[in-house]
Formats: sequence, C-alpha cells, structure tokens
Amino acid sequence: MEVIIRPTADAAALLTARLIARMLQGKPQLVLGLATGRTMEHVYAELVRRHRVGGLDFSLCRSFNLDEYVGLAPEHPDSYCQYMNRHLFQHVNIDPRNTHVLNGTAPDLGAECERFERLIRECGGIDLQLLGIGTDGHIGFNEPLSALLSRTREKALTPATRAQNASMFGGDASRVPARALTMGVGTIQESRRCLLLVTGADKAAILARAVEGPITAMVTGSALQLHPRCTAIIDEAAATDLRGTDYYRWVFATEPEWAEFR
Ligand code: F6R
Repeated sequence: MEVIIRPTADAAALLTARLIARMLQGKPQLVLGLATGRTMEHVYAELVRRHRVGGLDFSLCRSFNLDEYVGLAPEHPDSYCQYMNRHLFQHVNIDPRNTHVLNGTAPDLGAECERFERLIRECGGIDLQLLGIGTDGHIGFNEPLSALLSRTREKALTPATRAQNASMFGGDASRVPARALTMGVGTIQESRRCLLLVTGADKAAILARAVEGPITAMVTGSALQLHPRCTAIIDEAAATDLRGTDYYRWVFATEPEWAEFR
C-alpha cells in the first residue's frame, strides 16, 4: 500500500478525483467501482465539475457500486442508488444501462449477489475501485470478521456503522437498515487498482490499524495491505496516528509518478 497525505479533506478529494479523471481519459471504457458516503461527496462534486467545465467523458464508462441497503428499493431517497443519481449519475453523461447498483429489494438476495458478480466478470473486472473506511474498519459493508476472501453477499451491519450513517437518516440510527448487500473483500481485492480515501480526525485511529496494523478480519480495510496496487489518500487530520508519515510524505514529494499531482 502507498499512503499519500494532503493538507486538507478538500485537497485529498481533489487528488482522488484527478486520479479517476486521468484513468478515465486513458481508458474511456473504464470499469469503475464506486463508493457512497460523506467522504465521496466531494470527489463526485469535483468529477461533475470536470465534466461540465472540461468535458470529462463518462459515455463509455461502466460502474459497479460497492453496496446497498437491504429493504430499500432503488427509488427510495435513502438508497445508495439514489445517492449515486444525486451526486454523480444525473450530472454526467454516463449511460444508466452501464451503472450497476445492487438491488436491496430483489426477491432472492443471494441470486442478486451472484448476478452482480457475474456482471463484473463479464465487464472484464473492475479497473479502479474507490473505497472509504468505516469507523469500525469496514470497506464496503464488510463488517468485522468478514472473511477476507468473501464475495458479494448479505451482511448484518454493526451498531457502529448504523450510528456512523445515522446522519443520512435524520440522525436516527434505528432508521438505518440493519442489513446490506456488499461486494466481498475478495471481490474488492480482485480490482486492478484501489483508491482508499480517508479524511477527518475521527478516522485517524482506525486508519492506522488498517494501514500499519496486522492484517485481520477484525478490520477488513487491513486486507488492502495485500493488494498489489492500493493507494490511500488521506488528509492531515486522518494521518495523526500513523507512524510512517515522514516516509509517506517523502514518497509524494520525490516519486516521479506523483510529479504531476504535486
Ligand atoms: C459506502 C461504503 C462504506 C463507506 C464508509 C465511510 O458505499 O462502502 O464503506 O465508504 O462507511 O463512509 P463515510 O465517508 O460516510 O464516512
């Protein structure tokens, strides 16, 4: 894993959006793995801006979202399907037929997860997977003790996750659905590149466990240490508990790969 520290949350989101835009320009048929949540809103705002101002083209891009709540129909305003419409899809020229969000109200949730995995395979796999991390260390909704080789499936959410996401349900954790469909840790690991965006002091402790701690199913984000091409883009506030910050800063300041982003 590589860790890139930017001064602010806005700067971290901007760098993430620039990396996505560059990959999309290099491969217009990019297969993008998308995440939802507060952190990603800034990334999508910047991608929308680049589409409007610079003509960033999504017309051939395919997308797969990490997760969806069980019991919320795609039309439900709190569904991740609607989150994606609100923050990205309806503002750019992506073909809706090329966007894939799990259906949390499918009659057979197991079959829905298998269909999703099959579609990813048929598209040739995910080129770039965008990830955030939960306060309990989850990536996607792979809650603690999720198998590190797991595939897309249904998971029960932890109280910590429901509390974290309560703000999107009027501040009431009991309104956050108790279960979700999520890509598995194994599914995520198969994507060719991962970008983990983490900002804010409230993520500092769990980020340090995921990045520098032992690989453990208790913190599924730690499985990204096994990924051959994972970059964590974080802000100063999220970096405070890391031990290796001098080295991480040196990498960004000196490695040729980062020259155009400095
Ligand atoms: C959302 C997802 C989650 C979030 C994580 C951080 O699709 O997969 O893993 O990325 O819970 O959420 P925020 O950004 O709201 O703190």
